[in-house]
Amino acid sequence: MAKYNVVFVLGGPGAGKGTQCENIVRDFGYVHLSAGDLLRAERQRPGSQFGEEIEGHIRNGTIVPVQITCSLLRRAMEDSGKNNFLIDGFPRNKDNLDGWNKAMEGVADVKMVLFFDCTEKTCIDRCLNRGKTSGRSDDNLESLQKRIQTYTNSTMSIIEHYKKMDLVCELNGENSPDKVFDEVKVALDKLSS
Ligand code: C5P
Ligand code: MG
Repeated sequence: MAKYNVVFVLGGPGAGKGTQCENIVRDFGYVHLSAGDLLRAERQRPGSQFGEEIEGHIRNGTIVPVQITCSLLRRAMEDSGKNNFLIDGFPRNKDNLDGWNKAMEGVADVKMVLFFDCTEKTCIDRCLNRGKTSGRSDDNLESLQKRIQTYTNSTMSIIEHYKKMDLVCELNGENSPDKVFDEVKVALDKLSS
């Protein structure tokens, strides 16, 4: 049996992935791993050979090669000593998906994909608002438009792939965080029953 249980969390920039993951960690005790946060930490790590490459992708809203991202995820999973993970912002494209399947077959089981659906306008408004305080180099209109393009062109087909496997729980990310979390709870309760 696989060692790790995984729930992937997907949705456009600003769809509420991070916010809902915080709620889930508080009430369900999963370990939250944000692919974007792990990449930002690796970018900052003194001596990292990937720092510049990662920053280039982040500013451009493009996707870092899976070897880098999947290694960071796997190391964080191993280091945690835990078994249940919420992996947020991954897999974002076919390279991510194929790399994950290859590296994690027999190691991790994907139990569900939480998908927060949101309009482009809401994504942009929320991220520009977050940009006032986030300090993120990609919470600006130019990067955001590229991130949304990547989401539409590369991530939507990954969500479709998991829909065909009947793993997707789709929630309306336009709703208030409390309302979205009420629905998240129902989905996660079902998963653990
Ligand atoms: O999920 P988040 O918005 O924090 O991701 C920020 C950026 O990190 C993405 O726009 C992308 O450049 C990079 N990223 C990536 N591969 C992932 C997740 C994030 O390249 N799986
Ligand atoms: Mg996030």
